[in-house]
Amino acid sequence: MQAPAVSASSPLVTDTALAALGRVLPSGAIRTDADTREAHARDESEAAPILPDAVVRVGSTDELCRTMQVAHRHGVPVVARGAGTGRAGGAVPLRPGWVLAFDGWRDLEEIHVGDAVAVARPGLVLGELHRAVEAEGLFYPPDANSWASCTIGGNVATNAGGPRAFKYGVTGHYVLGLEVVTADGTRLNVGRRTKKGVTGYDLTSLLVGSEGTLALTTRVTLHLVPKPEAVRTMVVFLASEGAIADAVGVSLRERVVPRCVELLDAITLEVLREHRVIDVPTGARALLLVEIDGDEETVDRQLERLGSRWLESGALEVLVAKHGADRERLWNVRRQMSRLLRERAAHKLSEDVVVPRSRIGDLLARARVISERHRIRMPSYGHAGDGNLHVNFLWDDDEERARVGPAIDALLEAVVGMRGTLTGEHGLGALKRDHLPIEQAPALIELQRGLKAQLDPRGILNPDKVLPGRGHGAC
Ligand code: LAC
Ligand code: ZN
Repeated sequence: MQAPAVSASSPLVTDTALAALGRVLPSGAIRTDADTREAHARDESEAAPILPDAVVRVGSTDELCRTMQVAHRHGVPVVARGAGTGRAGGAVPLRPGWVLAFDGWRDLEEIHVGDAVAVARPGLVLGELHRAVEAEGLFYPPDANSWASCTIGGNVATNAGGPRAFKYGVTGHYVLGLEVVTADGTRLNVGRRTKKGVTGYDLTSLLVGSEGTLALTTRVTLHLVPKPEAVRTMVVFLASEGAIADAVGVSLRERVVPRCVELLDAITLEVLREHRVIDVPTGARALLLVEIDGDEETVDRQLERLGSRWLESGALEVLVAKHGADRERLWNVRRQMSRLLRERAAHKLSEDVVVPRSRIGDLLARARVISERHRIRMPSYGHAGDGNLHVNFLWDDDEERARVGPAIDALLEAVVGMRGTLTGEHGLGALKRDHLPIEQAPALIELQRGLKAQLDPRGILNPDKVLPGRGHGAC
């Protein structure tokens, strides 16, 4: 008989389960002190947690299997956590249960130069992976902006993107195979180690981006590419937000795919001007941060050609950085944005909607209308090449907060109306799951509920994430 789905653990269940877990793990693996539980309850979103009953630090895949066997038997919800840099509450516990901390699993087990493959454990920090593979002349392109602290396991869980996705794609494009532990504690190897392979269903793609709701990742096999010889960085100031899509189009017509085309809108540009992060020319209403890579000769030729074309087509100014310190200065402009916006309000919520690239100007215009109608400050920045916009909602008090929800609904409906999608890189997590019916049909959501039930019959893997709560929309 199938065990019943879990609703919430009672203190009795929790104590019995923890005692059982204590019998299968080494001492010290389970922490129940308040400070540790508090330190593992949040991510970088506004999602409000329930304190976990325990933080569990397993030391191996075998220990994780034993942990999940106990969790499954007792119906204890578990939430996997890497570095807690998520933006949608994906790693925030919403029911009593255990947080499984993977940040200690930092091993890069292998770099095989000939096969262009790396094998990593989920707690490896993305920036460390970048450094290690680049030292071998290889390149792992996905570059979530939190690369200095975010982990590969979290990147896999959210199918993280980043600025370089425009040319190189997102995490999932580089995941060849995964070792995972299922809800009932079974170890499975899905996918493969070769670049090609169509054996069986593509479960790797199903698991990548599933936010810890279908299985727990314990080992990741990644595809690598050659490290580009040279990189050039440019900032382009535009006279209107409407000119952004055209500027991307100019580049593609010149047959140059920049590795990044990042954008700041008129409001975020004003923030830069105020903080004197960079000299902003009079009349500038949008900024593009563009990066091209390739071999030395080609990048310089492309740089000159693109710069001239953009100026001919109305750009106000083009700044070029060829070397390390200058490039850092220009990237600083983009990286500072989240922090500077956070300083401007008590609360900030960042959406990461995507529209077809040609509609990015329309989306910015619509965001402006919504901002005025709902009287909410909505500065935006993001990944113009991908049509992926971080529309931020800033508020200070409850009165303003009450207007944020309707403003978000209006934005998401506009995005879907433009044939876009709700989240490009942060995932639905806890904060956006109830919006899923705006984009997906009831039958499609039911199909996904069926997959979840097959892989996690007791509903213990990161409950209350991704799929909407019952009673939302038609589902
Ligand atoms: C960024 C994160 C928020 O692009 O996705 O800065
Ligand atoms: Zn982003």
